Amino acid sequence: MLKLGIIGTSWIARSFIDAAHMTGKYRFSAVYSRRIESAENFSADFEEIQHFDDLADFFATSLDVIYIASPNALHFEQAKAAILAGHHVIVEKPAFSNPSELAEIIQLARQENRFFFEAARNIHEPSFEVIKAFLADQTITGADFTYSKYSSKMAPLLRGELPNKFNPKFSGGLLADLGVYLLYAAIFWFGKPNTATYDAQLLPSGVDVAGIGVLDYKDYKVAIKCAGNLNSYLPSEIYTTEGTLILDGVNAISSAKFVSMDGSENNFELQAPKHSLYDEAVAFAEILENKDFEASFALQDFAKAVAETSFEMRKSAGIVFDADNK
Ligand SMILES: NC(=O)c1ccc[n+]([C@@H]2O[C@H](COP(=O)([O-])OP(=O)(O)OC[C@H]3O[C@@H](n4cnc5c(N)ncnc54)[C@H](OP(=O)(O)O)[C@@H]3O)[C@@H](O)[C@H]2O)c1
Repeated sequence: MLKLGIIGTSWIARSFIDAAHMTGKYRFSAVYSRRIESAENFSADFEEIQHFDDLADFFATSLDVIYIASPNALHFEQAKAAILAGHHVIVEKPAFSNPSELAEIIQLARQENRFFFEAARNIHEPSFEVIKAFLADQTITGADFTYSKYSSKMAPLLRGELPNKFNPKFSGGLLADLGVYLLYAAIFWFGKPNTATYDAQLLPSGVDVAGIGVLDYKDYKVAIKCAGNLNSYLPSEIYTTEGTLILDGVNAISSAKFVSMDGSENNFELQAPKHSLYDEAVAFAEILENKDFEASFALQDFAKAVAETSFEMRKSAGIVFDADNK
């Protein structure tokens, strides 16, 4: 059983604990919060939890793996300190503010013989492998990926506040938030694009509330659309010389059908995830249990390709995070 430590006390951290417990491979053991009362409230449903409001004390405790779900810009220093204290780390997406931070953590983790994972949940769903296997026999001619969801942080933003999600000091913005799922899907199925651009709708803070990107592959282009100021119900599509694959989403896939050029339709039988974070929790636990460094390096290569592509897109849109100037 992996002793699990948690940084961050918002709903996503609770969600990860629930998924981790469903796997039967982790036991939530300790939580860090800036306020001890928040740590206590957060863990009220669980027994024998250690609470910390001091990060050094938290890192000094005996844990197998630490899940980091703080605002994006804090992940780097927290992951670095956790690894140096001897812990494996699962870092919420986007793991870091830019590719330089990611490269430093990958190097440190390898040097210290520790595991680092970026929690990019979508590519761990079995449906992603099903689609990959189907595409292996197809000639791709293009794709159109979209993920837009009205954010709960729009209300404070419209009241004149600056939530972490939209703050360049915390490496926020929609490409970093929802766009990362689209990039993971594209890179999982098609590899890293040759070039990538992003046309962003910028907030006064300087980060994107929405945007449209283009990933340029040798023989085709992939369109990327993400937004936090609207709800979109459009599906995502992959085009091939034989027809169109229609997915209800690429942030998570629950239905997929292929419509051939003659109009005939084939539905895929997909297994619904037990919990949106379940498959990644299983994947990380198996790698940790088997000490499978090769598997974690392969995931790190995906993380690297996504971070480099996202950074190139962000640069093309003139979005600069405070962390870029460190
Ligand atoms: N995988 C997914 O589906 C998914 C979904 C949502 C979010 N995420 C990712 O999870 C991470 C957290 O996102 P979130 O929306 O939960 O962020 P958040 O609410 O802004 O912050 C998360 C936690 O970090 C601490 N925190 C907040 N502001 C802070 C500050 N100024 N300084 C230090 N600590 C602070 C708080 O914990 P304490 O008050 O206890 O210290 C808070 O509960 C992000 O990387 C995000 O991209 C992933």
